[in-house]
Amino acid sequence: MGNIVNELIEEYIRNILPQKDGILKDMEDYALKNHVPIVQPEVAKLLEVITQINQTKSVLEVGTAIGYSAIIFTKAMENGKVISIEKRSDMVEIARKNIEIMGLKDQIQVIEGCAEEILPTLQGKFDLIFLDAAKGQYMKFLSSSINLLKKGGILVSDNVLYKGMVASNEYVVRRKITIVKRMRKYLDYIMHHPELTTSLIPIGDGVAISYKN
Ligand SMILES: C[S@@+](CC[C@H](N)C(=O)[O-])C[C@H]1O[C@@H](n2cnc3c(N)ncnc32)[C@H](O)[C@@H]1O
Repeated sequence: MGNIVNELIEEYIRNILPQKDGILKDMEDYALKNHVPIVQPEVAKLLEVITQINQTKSVLEVGTAIGYSAIIFTKAMENGKVISIEKRSDMVEIARKNIEIMGLKDQIQVIEGCAEEILPTLQGKFDLIFLDAAKGQYMKFLSSSINLLKKGGILVSDNVLYKGMVASNEYVVRRKITIVKRMRKYLDYIMHHPELTTSLIPIGDGVAISYKN
């Protein structure tokens, strides 16, 4: 399947969105050229809207890559803070550089390390948590994430439909079966979790939005 959204619709939405400029545009170009997966433009816009609706002041992100979505969150908040976790040191270095160029060093902290180890050590509560790292690991991030989320906070899980493979075995590539099974389990869990109200949205590669009751 590959693309979960009708290509015509996706193209229309992308064309109608205001285009990014300056450093963010450079980051999009860098990501495309170097095959770094960053949030798709329509997902970035959804993140901005959620951030604003929820009057978000604090974001915890799992999966920084080059810092693109961390910067999107920061720009959508008024004096908000982002903590973002990334395991690859080369990515951490690029992200920190981009954040510095944007003048957002005081607002975004990038922590280098594996999220499953870092998350249980974090203190405080966040208004919004964004899971955008290894798809097969989301379940490992979940209980810490729910603990770290404020009541009334939002958990956003990205890429949850994984090129359509999660929805139907027909699309599953053999070597991805473990990730797909784990993601199905994760989705079932957050859909039925007593503390969460979850909506699964077929945008980008699938985004689950959960409200903590
Ligand atoms: C999809 S990219 C993140 C994109 C970024 N959120 C954006 O939209 O700009 C996923 C990143 O998660 C990192 N990652 C994967 N598993 C991780 C883990 N267990 N802990 C921390 N980072 C992880 C990868 O190295 C990769 O850079």
